[in-house]
Amino acid sequence: MATRSALINVMHKAATAASRGMLRDFGEVENLQVSRKGPADFVSRADTTAERVIKSELLKARPDWGFMMEESGTIIGADPDAPVWIVDPLDGTTNFLHGIPHFAISIAVKDKGKITAGLVFDPLRHEYFFAEAGQGAYINDRRLRVSGRRQMAESLFATGIPFLGHGDAEAHARFGKELYRIMGVSSGVRRFGSAALDLAYVAAGRYDGFWERGLQSWDIAAGILLVREAGGFVSDFASRDRALDSGDIVAANPAIHAELLKCLNAATQD
Ligand code: IPD
Ligand code: CA
Ligand code: CA
Repeated sequence: MATRSALINVMHKAATAASRGMLRDFGEVENLQVSRKGPADFVSRADTTAERVIKSELLKARPDWGFMMEESGTIIGADPDAPVWIVDPLDGTTNFLHGIPHFAISIAVKDKGKITAGLVFDPLRHEYFFAEAGQGAYINDRRLRVSGRRQMAESLFATGIPFLGHGDAEAHARFGKELYRIMGVSSGVRRFGSAALDLAYVAAGRYDGFWERGLQSWDIAAGILLVREAGGFVSDFASRDRALDSGDIVAANPAIHAELLKCLNAATQD
């Protein structure tokens, strides 16, 4: 049974508080799917309201810390040497907009350049994934381990498909090659639309690996720590520890990571 630290409790409380309005708005979106007005207004409101709630909860608990948030950008804290919160108030916006029940809140702590704590909360399934550096990763009260699958052929992968306005034609073509290669050697590829949950699912051993390019630090900061604390490997496409800064990420269990990287790189040589 996990004993949650004071810091994780702060993150847990902020995510829970933000999820209340978010779930209300999601209910509205579901109703609006059939009407002509459409749900776009509720989505932008859900994003900004959740971010405001999270910010105020975190500030109450740690008044000197700074922020890097998707909607409000970078906010320097009262103590510039203090840690910084990295927050995506709603990861999986497109799902939310379409009434698809798969989205999350992601909160991480960056201290002196390193991610030291992370929490990804799926409010619809009531799953709190959290980790602290050196303390392991958990889902609610249960310890997480990445999967033990050793063969690509038995492995299930997640990815993100670049969309309009996300990458150029060359990036789209490259993704096509990567997907073609991985679908030919694995037991499947999923695109569920929330990078934060994709990484949490790798940590939980649900997926064996995940790759995506062009992400932002708020999409992946918490998830990177979850995967590492669950025993997985995370890198960029050149196997360097630069996923957080570059936004290009390959995460997998330790038995599959090198092979996944090799396949992805080979795909783009073709
Ligand atoms: C998006 C999701 C998605 C990924 C996109 C992100 P948002 O975040 O994480 O899975 O493929 O690149 O932008 O916009 O829903 O917060
Ligand atoms: Ca996001
Ligand atoms: Ca978002």
